[in-house]
Order: sequence, then structure tokens, then C-alpha cells
Amino acid sequence: MNDLLEQASQRLLAAKAIAVLTGAGISAESGIPTFRDAMTGLWAKYNPADLATPEAFARDPERVSRWYDERRCRVAQCRPNSGHLALAHLQQVALAQEKAFTLITQNVDRLHQAAGSSDVVELHGSLWVWRCLECGNEVEERGPAFASYPHACACGGLRRPGVVWFGELLPSRAFATAEKAVASCDFFMSVGTSAEVYPAAGLIEQAIQVETDVLEINPEATAFSNRVSWSIRGKGGDVLPQIVGMALLDDASASETRQS
Ligand SMILES: NC(=O)c1ccc[n+]([C@@H]2O[C@H](COP(=O)([O-])OP(=O)(O)OC[C@H]3O[C@@H](n4cnc5c(N)ncnc54)[C@H](O)[C@@H]3O)[C@@H](O)[C@H]2O)c1
Ligand SMILES: [Zn+2]
Repeated sequence: MNDLLEQASQRLLAAKAIAVLTGAGISAESGIPTFRDAMTGLWAKYNPADLATPEAFARDPERVSRWYDERRCRVAQCRPNSGHLALAHLQQVALAQEKAFTLITQNVDRLHQAAGSSDVVELHGSLWVWRCLECGNEVEERGPAFASYPHACACGGLRRPGVVWFGELLPSRAFATAEKAVASCDFFMSVGTSAEVYPAAGLIEQAIQVETDVLEINPEATAFSNRVSWSIRGKGGDVLPQIVGMALLDDASASETRQS
């Protein structure tokens, strides 16, 4: 594993354009369950596909709103972990060196932004923004749990969570930005995603097709593990600080050598 880390961090250091795709796994160490782990407790009897669809909301807006509001309130208690922080640091350094850097996430928790990342490309929307189905008005909800469900707008319409549900289109601008970043990067990282939810997982395929260097970080194997340049089995919060730290240390020692 140390050899893989060393090789990947060397390539990261040399990269001119970096794109990163994150999934629920990067937030696991912040205490936010991945989809597989989210369906526990009271919600164990439901399938995410039965809650995270427009049909589910139309059928039972009370239940679906309650589920999302519970997740929103839980995320409000969570803090970014060392994986989020390492990516925010990497972005700062990359931009200072005039490299391109794009962080693309499938997460709806905004922990990347809380860690200091900027211009995050949100493919699946956000848990914080609720949108009225009647008048289209959007509000950022940062307060305590809603007093009643479903959540209603002043106009009398129902508000839905601003996430992308199964069967819905991804925000087209965000997806186009992500595709462009992947097409032009020379180092791509996929962290904490099962790579099963499309079209987001298609970005990994795209990076492999254009023969970019691809690093995957996940404690478990995915459908892409055998096709990427480096598949590191580990937690985002352990591996990312090591990779980023090694790349930055190498950079610091190289510039000391240049200066002397
Ligand atoms: N935090 C969130 O915002 C959140 C949480 C749950 C689900 N979702 C939504 O669920 C969908 C599911 O796709 P997905 O691929 O993002 O998640 P997923 O739940 O399908 O897969 C999570 C992946 O993370 C890996 N993982 C677990 N712990 C990890 C760790 N500590 N470090 C790195 N990886 C770890 C797992 O092995 C798994 O492959 C997405 O559409 C996403 O919007 C988001
Ligand atoms: Zn309204």
C-alpha cells in the first residue's frame, strides 16, 4: 500500500489539472451514513429507491419529507473530517500553483464547503435547500426540525428537498462542468463512491477512457477497481491526508532544492 500511495502522490504532485469525484463514503467518518447504512433503525424496512423518488414523494409526502428532514438535522450535527479537510487544502495549494482543480460530489451534505472547499460541483443537489412545487421558491433551511410534515410554502404548495431523486435528471450545468473537468484533467480521484449510481459513475468510466491517471480510494472494491491506475483500499479520512501530505511534502523539498 505504501508503494501505491507513493506512486499516486508523485503523480498528483506532477498533475496540471486535477478532478475529484466524491461519494457518501467520504462523509462516513463524519457520522453520516452511506445509503447502505442509512436504512437502519426506524427506516430499516424501506428501500432507498422507495423514498428517494418523485413517485414516493407524490404517494407519501409526509413520510418522504420526514426522512429527509431527519437526515438534514443529523447532518447539522456533523463536522467535516480529515478527508474533506485534505481536499480543501489540496485545492488551495493547486490554485496557488495555477493548476486547475475541480471537486465534484454526489453528496448532499455540504461538508466539503464546511471544510473550506470552493466551487464544489454538486451533482445531486443539497439537503439544505427546499423548493416549492407550486411557485418554485427555494429556501435554505438551517433551523431545527420542521414543526410538521409535509413541509409547506407560504403559497400553500408543498416544499420538496432540493436533492436529485432516482429517475430525475442531474442539474445540466453541474454535470456539464463535471464532464468538462474530467475531459481536461490529467489526474482523477474517486473517493468513497460505490460507483453504482449513474450517470455520476460514468465520470469514472470517462476518466478511464481518456487514459487519465485514476486513483480510487475506498475500503471495498468497486466495479472499477481493476481498471483504475491505483486502487487504494482504505478510508478517505486516513488515505487522503497521507496522499495530499506526501505530495505537498515532496513539493516543498523540491522547491528547497531548487532554491539552494
Ligand atoms: N453524505 C451524503 O450526502 C449522502 C449519504 C448517503 C447517500 N447519499 C446519496 O447516495 C447516492 C449513493 O451513491 P454513493 O456512491 O455516493 O454512495 P454509496 O452509499 O452507494 O457508497 C458509499 C461507498 O463508500 C465506501 N465507504 C464507506 N466508508 C468509507 C470511508 N470511510 N472512506 C471512503 N469510502 C468509504 C463504501 O465502501 C461504498 O463503496 C448518491 O446519489 C448520494 O447523493 C449521499
Ligand atoms: Zn410556494
